[in-house]
Amino acid sequence: MASCDPFLALFCYLTGEWPHPLKNTSPLPSASDELLLSLEKIRQRVLTCTACSLYQTAKQSVFSDGSPHTPLVFVGEAPGEEEDNQGLPFVGRAGKLLTATLEKFGVSRNKVYICNILKHRPPNNRPPTLEETLACTPFLREQISLIQPKLIVALGNSAAKYLLSTEDGITKTRGKEHTSILGFPVFPTFHPAAVLRNYTAYYPLFETDIHEALQRVGLCQR
Ligand code: URA
Repeated sequence: MASCDPFLALFCYLTGEWPHPLKNTSPLPSASDELLLSLEKIRQRVLTCTACSLYQTAKQSVFSDGSPHTPLVFVGEAPGEEEDNQGLPFVGRAGKLLTATLEKFGVSRNKVYICNILKHRPPNNRPPTLEETLACTPFLREQISLIQPKLIVALGNSAAKYLLSTEDGITKTRGKEHTSILGFPVFPTFHPAAVLRNYTAYYPLFETDIHEALQRVGLCQR
């Protein structure tokens, strides 16, 4: 049993100032702090994740970039070489195209949240296996359910197929809003790496899709 200082007890009795054990004068954490803290806890688990073998070949994990206080989340496939080097998603050539397209519509990348299905780079950028996807997507699901976005842009086939639970290819699903397995609307578009490979045909469609997604969530009024 906790001992009680008799002088403190007498003082409290005389002054009526009994220190309440639940009394805490530090300010309550805001919802914004709670969100950052919860995401940081997931990031810490990703750092030590061994659920698939990719942590053995990747240089580091790649969790997210941008702000979780956003209506718009971008989901790609997996980190590439530059992402693996820097520990940030979409910072290589494909990522620069995404960033430049957002900026074309007056939106800096720190106004949206950017992440991937896989948090570790597959060797030689091969597509994720089903086992890797199943092992890693619980993290993505937690990220999305904390952020509660108005819209998720699926970048490319892997993200769109997973989020829509479909075998339909990106040319069929892109540019339309769908209901996702996570319960949030998903708007698929081409992966920016695919756009770089076929720029003339794909860039105008990619640009239109990004513009439409930004307008839908109110990040771009023009
Ligand atoms: N491709 C992706 O799908 N994600 C990245 O982060 C980079 C390239």
